[in-house]
Amino acid sequence: MIISGKELSATLKAQMAETVATFPEKYGRVPHLVVILVGNDPGSVSYVTGKVKACEATGIKNTTIRKPETITEDELLALIRELNEDDSVDGILVQLPLPKHISEAKVIETISKEKDVDGFHPLNVAALWQKQPCTVACTPKGIIRLLKAAGVQIAGKRAVVIGRSNIVGLPVAKLLLDENATVTIAHSRTADLASVTHSAEILVVAIGKPRFVTADMVSEGAAVIDVGVNRDPQTGKLCGDVDFEAIEPKASVITPVPGGVGPMTICCLMENTIECFLRRQ
Ligand code: GUN
Repeated sequence: MIISGKELSATLKAQMAETVATFPEKYGRVPHLVVILVGNDPGSVSYVTGKVKACEATGIKNTTIRKPETITEDELLALIRELNEDDSVDGILVQLPLPKHISEAKVIETISKEKDVDGFHPLNVAALWQKQPCTVACTPKGIIRLLKAAGVQIAGKRAVVIGRSNIVGLPVAKLLLDENATVTIAHSRTADLASVTHSAEILVVAIGKPRFVTADMVSEGAAVIDVGVNRDPQTGKLCGDVDFEAIEPKASVITPVPGGVGPMTICCLMENTIECFLRRQ
């Protein structure tokens, strides 16, 4: 079964639109997300376009602030501080990656925890690991939603996460653990990776290498979640981290690229923006 993140996110966005439509009467305004886009990287421009469309579909007010590649770190941090102080702004997202002369860590920690819709702020990350209320990073949150919607039972399962980034690998492992899965975190340098992935009843791959996971690495009946967004070196088309065509017949459920995890990330960003708005009321 192919799990469509596109369909699930459309359903969830329609529900959010209904909720947001009640806000003007209740709170006198709708949530407001500000996205800062530095430079013209085509990938980043396309991500930001997706976010704008999702805001429009859910009725969330959105402002995109575009800055040239040449903006200094101090200028960017000053802009973020200004938005932190602006009561009409509920969520702030700075599109990553940033030019090399700007510290992503400094940018992330300058966004106030309360407006950090990405869930990247160290205080949100710490709160997640301490089981305190927090904003959960969008991709990990979307993955758990997808698994549940597909009817995959997580509790008691052996889950393997390939990838250990702060943005996906580590938080998704933590969320699976909180759902009572037994979790192994592997990576591109794991010795005999196939012997580890064979044990996976749930396999999450977030490594950023086209078709890194081959059919011989996956056991019959596994639920396979592909977080990769890569360009196929041969065809130039979008492809995931798993060899979809070869693995789909073996998997109980699998996410396609595009149309799997990606739309869920943006959907959860809308949800996080609404949550930040409601916490500030
Ligand atoms: N670049 C690619 N994905 C993301 C994301 O989820 N958040 C931010 N801020 N930048 C990204």
